[in-house]
Amino acid sequence: MLWSALGEWFERERRALPWRATRDPYAIWISEAMLQQTRVETALPYYERFLARFPDVRTLAAAEEDEVLAQWSGLGYYGRARALRAAARLVVGELGGRFPSTRAGWLALPGVGPYTAGAVLSIAFGLREPLVDGNVQRVFARLFAVEGAQGSKELAERCWELARALVPSTQDGLRPGDWNQALMELGARLCTAAAPRCEVCPLRSTCRARILGKVEEFPGPRARKAGQVVRLEILVASRGDELVLVQRAAGGRMAGLLEFPTRELVRGRTAARLWPARHLSGLAPAPGRALGELTHTITHHRIHARVRPGRCECALAPPLRSCPPEQLSGLALTGLARKVLARLLSLTGALR
Ligand code: ADE
Repeated sequence: MLWSALGEWFERERRALPWRATRDPYAIWISEAMLQQTRVETALPYYERFLARFPDVRTLAAAEEDEVLAQWSGLGYYGRARALRAAARLVVGELGGRFPSTRAGWLALPGVGPYTAGAVLSIAFGLREPLVDGNVQRVFARLFAVEGAQGSKELAERCWELARALVPSTQDGLRPGDWNQALMELGARLCTAAAPRCEVCPLRSTCRARILGKVEEFPGPRARKAGQVVRLEILVASRGDELVLVQRAAGGRMAGLLEFPTRELVRGRTAARLWPARHLSGLAPAPGRALGELTHTITHHRIHARVRPGRCECALAPPLRSCPPEQLSGLALTGLARKVLARLLSLTGALR
């Protein structure tokens, strides 16, 4: 079911990329090395140039390091380029120019980890080998509602277990390399971090996170470093004569306390997770000046929050509610919500 739904989608949607038109392990290895930490669109011209200059493993092994670095220049993480050349020299010098066809053989090459080994063995050799990269991890975290923070060992290990269990063999009707690439493609194009497009996802009917209505909550947020500054935007949204509040989820920090709708501002990305988007389609910041900036320190990090006015015209259901401003101070608010309230009081003098 999973295989056919994803396989059919990939068959229809796969991008015609040059490394998909070959089974040459050398070309596929180079592409996979480039695609780690680099987007497909960025890697494409580098790949074409690199393969034109170093068309096979012997050419790469014979090249000066400076020239390899020059061809890599702009892709970053130059250790990857040095490792490619070192591995090419090893393949030529010790393996007679033939690439290994086993996992252990690939893992013994410089710069090759479980991801690259899985990619080359499944895509070029057609072997039933799994892989997990950041995209696959996000897809699995959502598809199976896997607990664990991004970057945690727990999440990574669980995703590798799933990848091992799910990778098909060719007899299952889907080539292992196509399955692996389809998962990565799904993560890059539909199951994205910032704006998942569940409505067109081939796995929407089986996705646990979607069924739970919690797509944006998987994978769990990265654990913060102690002392890190967290930037929040807090909405003081009026609904008629009342203000909108959210009750924090059971089981988490400050469970059950009330706060103003809040979202985290992450560079390049607005994380909707704290401003529960699925409950708040009718809630929007109002034009006009911010009500101020607040700072707040909780156990391990500092918060810089911008308070903005907002409006809400939607019906409210738990965890949302509204309350007359003069009753707010009697409610179980978070410390930060109390600071927001104090700021409102100082601005208007009207709330008691
Ligand atoms: N990301 C890294 N390698 C990829 C591949 N072969 N297909 C799609 N996305 C990728």
